Amino acid sequence: MPIFTAFSLAAALSATPTVVPDTLEQRVAACLACHSVKERGDAYFPRIAGKPAGYLYNQLRNFRDGRRHYPMMTYMVTPLPDAYLREIADYFAAQHPPYAAAAAGSGSKASAAQLARGEALVRQGDAVKKVPACVACHGAALGGVEPAIPGLLGLPSDYINAQFGNWKSHTRRAAAPDCMADIAARLSEADVAAVSAWLSQQPPDAAARPATSLPAPLPMSCGSAPAAVGGAK
Ligand code: HEC
Ligand code: HEC
Repeated sequence: MPIFTAFSLAAALSATPTVVPDTLEQRVAACLACHSVKERGDAYFPRIAGKPAGYLYNQLRNFRDGRRHYPMMTYMVTPLPDAYLREIADYFAAQHPPYAAAAAGSGSKASAAQLARGEALVRQGDAVKKVPACVACHGAALGGVEPAIPGLLGLPSDYINAQFGNWKSHTRRAAAPDCMADIAARLSEADVAAVSAWLSQQPPDAAARPATSLPAPLPMSCGSAPAAVGGAK
């Protein structure tokens, strides 16, 4: 399974008549071992289906170029050129499989007070900590915004916690200004646990699509979502 990328790329580049058909389905088959419809049943693997193509493309390049770290992901994308990653991103962005049942991750043990804190951060942010509401960038329905801001529903709480840990330790990076790293630095561990618990308990809707724009400019600049949505710098 893991050799599929290198193999099908080599196959695509070679012009010999013995080459097996190089369909996109073949290219992405190995990804589905971890990113299938059942992915939400796992306590860690993130859903990638239906996320904005620009976001997925950025992440594939981030793994390849060392701005995100997960050995198996790095291995899957390291030999691949940008155009190939773009095609894979477009493929997954157009998939909208149903969601599997929520995993019983750490967020399922949250208290009512933690859930209330999480919801407040998502909907209002925290002015004292200078943290904008998550909905101001991820969309009122948290379904993400084209082309490069991901939705936040249907992700395991343990995955969300891990990403905040990665931003805090600078092992997950995006183009500067790295708004999520700045936000993560302003949130305590307890804030992160609260927000991930609340998010992971919201029922996702497979019929939802990323928004095409936001009603107001982004409250902070994000290098990975330039000129977005609302015309923020
Ligand atoms: C062995 C399991 C595994 C395989 C196979 C795999 N992935 Fe992943 N993928 C993961 C894990 C785990 C993460 C989260 C890593 C982290 O903590 O950042 C991830 C993250 C991602 C992300 C970022 C998701 C997000 O929401 O930010 C994308 C995009 C992605 N994978 C695409 C792919 C593609 C495309 C393939 C096939 C070429 C693939 N993956 C194969 C396990 C896998
Ligand atoms: C100023 C805009 C902005 C705000 C406010 C914001 N985000 Fe983000 N968020 C982004 C952008 C842009 C990305 C994509 C970063 C990248 O490309 O790696 C992102 C990515 C994420 C991801 C990664 C999803 C995945 O699949 O890996 C999570 C989780 C996340 N944000 C959670 C939050 C939470 C929780 C809040 C509120 C506390 C929040 N964000 C507030 C802009 C924002």
